[in-house]
Amino acid sequence: MRFNEFSEMVLPKIQDQIEITISLAQQNNNDSLRQMLSYHLGLSNEQNRKSSQGKRIRPLILVLATETAGGDWQNAVAAAAAIELIHNFSLIHDDIEDESEYRRGRQTLWKIHGVPIAINAGDALFSLSFICLGELIKRNSFETSFQAFNLLSEACLAITKGQHLDISFEKVDRISVPEYMEMIEGKTASLLAMSAKLGALIAGADLNSQNLYYEIGKNLGLAFQVYDDILGIWGKPEETGKSTATDLIARKKSLPIFFGLSNNGIFREMWDSDISTENVSQLADQLKQEGAYHYSQQKADEFTTAAVKAFDAANPSGQAVEAFHELIHILTQRKS
Ligand code: IPE
Ligand code: IPE
Ligand code: MG
Ligand code: MG
Repeated sequence: MRFNEFSEMVLPKIQDQIEITISLAQQNNNDSLRQMLSYHLGLSNEQNRKSSQGKRIRPLILVLATETAGGDWQNAVAAAAAIELIHNFSLIHDDIEDESEYRRGRQTLWKIHGVPIAINAGDALFSLSFICLGELIKRNSFETSFQAFNLLSEACLAITKGQHLDISFEKVDRISVPEYMEMIEGKTASLLAMSAKLGALIAGADLNSQNLYYEIGKNLGLAFQVYDDILGIWGKPEETGKSTATDLIARKKSLPIFFGLSNNGIFREMWDSDISTENVSQLADQLKQEGAYHYSQQKADEFTTAAVKAFDAANPSGQAVEAFHELIHILTQRKS
């Protein structure tokens, strides 16, 4: 089955589960919490619904893992929706932490409503994710559902550890490759890894196979974050939906920047003086000239190859194998 066909089949069901869950944020006399979550998620009554919903990569990986590990994707809908909600909770908080004003082509929640109430909306989404995951029990055993709770909790802790490193690194002059890897494995790869593992768990796969799916998701996640780093410098705002080169202005230790700094060349000199919206594109050009773009692309390709290898080792089967391969390819071409 082709990827488009597969996602058109599963995404409406996942969307329904998300909508039902978000409706629980409604209050008797004040509906603004639910409306904030609806806005962030690009749900009903929002303009530009499609582009403001995000790519739904993690739930798609989860249900593709369930199908290719021999299970039925319909048993995994609650987990797929829960993973997407956790991802979106992490974005609400991340945009506050990064002071990002735009996401998915629209103003971020904190930018519109202020930081305190946006933090609280993120917390609501976090809680709702676990309520949503509880729906697993309707189609899965108690043991599977309980293990799913453990896996999602572990992923949440890993995200915060990664975010802790990411934010701390802004104030550190230099970081090493292992430090960078630990950071992106936590903040991004852990959730993609857990999506794939959860999918395999719900399929009833054994632990060995679940761990192979974890490796698939982890490597996809590492590649995904390196691409995100590339887009954070050279991506087009009209395609990424985020502001121009914010990573340079925020002095993020993303992979290309980290590479450029260790060159000790002109980029490093430019980095040590003022960076503003006026000179940021010059800085991005200089960084590319010093090989950071090429290096980062190569790294992302290595992780993608490792993901494909782990997928083959997992002996995937069924109608969704082709769609999974296609998804991996789509991730390598992404512009947003
Ligand atoms: C953005 O993730 C944050 C990262 C972990 C890089 P996505 O690029 O998957 O965000 P959406 O949901 O598609 O907007
Ligand atoms: C996002 O990382 C990771 C999480 C939300 C946990 P980034 O800060 O690098 O991603 P963007 O560029 O804001 O999407
Ligand atoms: Mg960010
Ligand atoms: Mg961040």
